[in-house]
This record gives sequence, C-alpha cells and structure tokens, in this order.
Amino acid sequence: MDRLLIIGSTGLVGSRLASMATSHDFEPYLTHNTRKSPFPNSSQLEITDRDATLRLIREVRPKIIVNAAALTNVDYCETHKEEAESVNVGGARNLAEAAEKNNARLLHISTDSVFDGTYGHYTELDTPNPLNHYSTTKLASERVVSQLSNR
Ligand SMILES: NC(=O)c1ccc[n+]([C@@H]2O[C@H](COP(=O)([O-])OP(=O)(O)OC[C@H]3O[C@@H](n4cnc5c(N)ncnc54)[C@H](OP(=O)(O)O)[C@@H]3O)[C@@H](O)[C@H]2O)c1
Repeated sequence: MDRLLIIGSTGLVGSRLASMATSHDFEPYLTHNTRKSPFPNSSQLEITDRDATLRLIREVRPKIIVNAAALTNVDYCETHKEEAESVNVGGARNLAEAAEKNNARLLHISTDSVFDGTYGHYTELDTPNPLNHYSTTKLASERVVSQLSNR
C-alpha cells in the first residue's frame, strides 16, 4: 500500500483527510504540532524545523505528502508577521525540499483568499491580489512550492 503523509492532522482539513485516508487504499501517516492528535499514528512535527522535517520524511518514505499545516488565523498572522512567514512559507519550503529529496509528491493547500474577491469564480490563471498578511504568505508558499517542485 502506498504511504500517505498528512501534515496537520489536528486541523480542520487535515483531520478530515486523515479520517478518509484508510478507505482510499493508503497507509496513512500523520503529523500534529501543538495539539494532541485524535489519531493514533500521528507524530509531532514542527514544519519550520528543516532537519526534523527532512528526517521524518526520510523515515516515513511517503509516496504522497499533503500539507494541510499553516497558521490560518488571519488576525494572528497580521500581528505575528514573521511567525506567519516562517510557518506558511518556510514550512512549505521545507516540505517541498523534503518531498523532492525523497521522490514524494507534495500536495500543498493554498487558499482562495490569494484573490481580492472583486470578481469571484477565479481560476488558477487569474492574477492574485492578496489583501492581508495571511493571504500574502499563502501566495508566497504557492510560489516557493511550485519553484522547488518544478526543478
Ligand atoms: N479551513 C478553511 O476554510 C480553509 C479555506 C481555504 C484554505 N485553507 C487552507 O487549508 C489548509 C488547512 O487549513 P485548516 O483550516 O485545516 O487549518 P487549521 O484548522 O488552523 O489547522 C492548522 C494545522 O496546521 C498545523 N500547524 C500550524 N503550525 C504548524 C507548524 N509550525 N508546524 C507544524 N504544523 C503546524 C496545526 O497543528 P497543531 O494544531 O497541532 O499545532 C494544525 O494541524 C491551510 O493551508 C489553509 O490555508 C483552509
């Protein structure tokens, strides 16, 4: 069975993915950070720790990594800009680098709020215009991941 590593199993998206993974023929491996995971097979991982991220992914050897980890509180990101940058961009960079080194596919989750909402029904081809720091870091994370993943 292919191994699927879900980063952020304590989050809204990550916990849902984790509960669906076994019924889709994956052997799931999970991570949490500050909160205790409701799932038994979850390891603690701080994605801004590059060495720990590389080590975990080298040990687990997943075929697919889903990054559902981020600082998502818009107000908190506005008042903690460096931390938001470090987690949302730096953490994504570490995961992309680890995925590349271990021949894993990385599925990175961004947000519709990279667009300013003026028109709606956006596609990937539309020009983003983030209106707050959270969205700015998410856009930067898309770029960092796509640059590393397309080398
Ligand atoms: N929910 C939405 O409506 C929505 C909409 C658009 C896009 N998204 C995107 O979807 C993704 C998941 O969002 P969500 O709503 O599920 O977020 P969430 O509920 O806030 O969960 C965030 C997850 O990230 C983990 N995390 C935070 N900082 C971390 C760090 N430094 N190292 C390792 N893990 C860390 C948290 O772990 P701990 O709790 O254990 O610390 C938690 O598991 C994000 O990329 C977000 O931008 C979500």
